Amino acid sequence: MSRPPIQRPDLGGPFPEHLAIVMDGNGRWARRRGLPRVKGHSAGVDSVRTITTSCARMGVASLTLYAFSVENWRRPSAEVQTLMRLLRVFLWRERRTLMENGVRLRCIGRLDDLPPRALRTLRETEELTANNDGMLLRLALSYGSRSEVADALTAAARDVRAGRLDPDSVDEETLRRYLYDPETPDPDLLIRTGGELRLSNFLLWQASYAELYVTDQCWPDFREEQLLEALRDYAGRRRRYGGLLPDETDPATSPQGAS
Ligand code: IPE
Ligand code: IPE
Ligand code: MG
Repeated sequence: MSRPPIQRPDLGGPFPEHLAIVMDGNGRWARRRGLPRVKGHSAGVDSVRTITTSCARMGVASLTLYAFSVENWRRPSAEVQTLMRLLRVFLWRERRTLMENGVRLRCIGRLDDLPPRALRTLRETEELTANNDGMLLRLALSYGSRSEVADALTAAARDVRAGRLDPDSVDEETLRRYLYDPETPDPDLLIRTGGELRLSNFLLWQASYAELYVTDQCWPDFREEQLLEALRDYAGRRRRYGGLLPDETDPATSPQGAS
């Protein structure tokens, strides 16, 4: 299927390969308008559609959306049921757009906790889009970083017991291999809408060196203009991973300057 050409905006600096978003603020968006919280969730679905399509067209390699946390099961059951129904409807309605934009869907989280119908629709959509070669869209569902690490340790411990893993050789790369989706590189930029200054158990391992961007805009108001604003901010960041950038070194301590 031919898809629209990639049009990466020139924002004067680096562009993130992997973008992760905590889509927060749906409830507040609705309450401010005198609407029930679930109306915020349905408005949020429109942002998911817009942002997914925009990212695919801009050539983002991977987009990870935090859609439902392990802790979100604590919410009233009516809200949880609405969220699960919105997820199914979204997947049904968006299949065509995903295919048209060459998007591959993958889900991360404790997926067995999802209602069977939602899980079936997810698996079907993953299969349908598996051979697309455009952007990878990862939906974090019933996701929690601590559960992810616990699940990784369980799997690694089983491999030790079965003689497949030498416990003395475990390093960071070994642990990464046991995480939910080890092939996808770490996020470069992590956006949180809704203004809260926390990670809420999202990608704690993978976001170690992600650039953080928090906006007060609620998720239903986060559209292409707001995305570009975040990307522009990222383009100006200086990532040094604990080291120093070339223009930051002290001349006296550089090899040439040392006496
Ligand atoms: C994010 O919006 C959606 C989910 C967590 C599923 P919220 O529902 O958390 O909205 P606020 O934070 O209460 O406004
Ligand atoms: C984080 O939002 C989870 C998702 C966006 C799916 P929450 O609304 O659940 O986070 P807290 O409870 O404010 O930390
Ligand atoms: Mg919230």
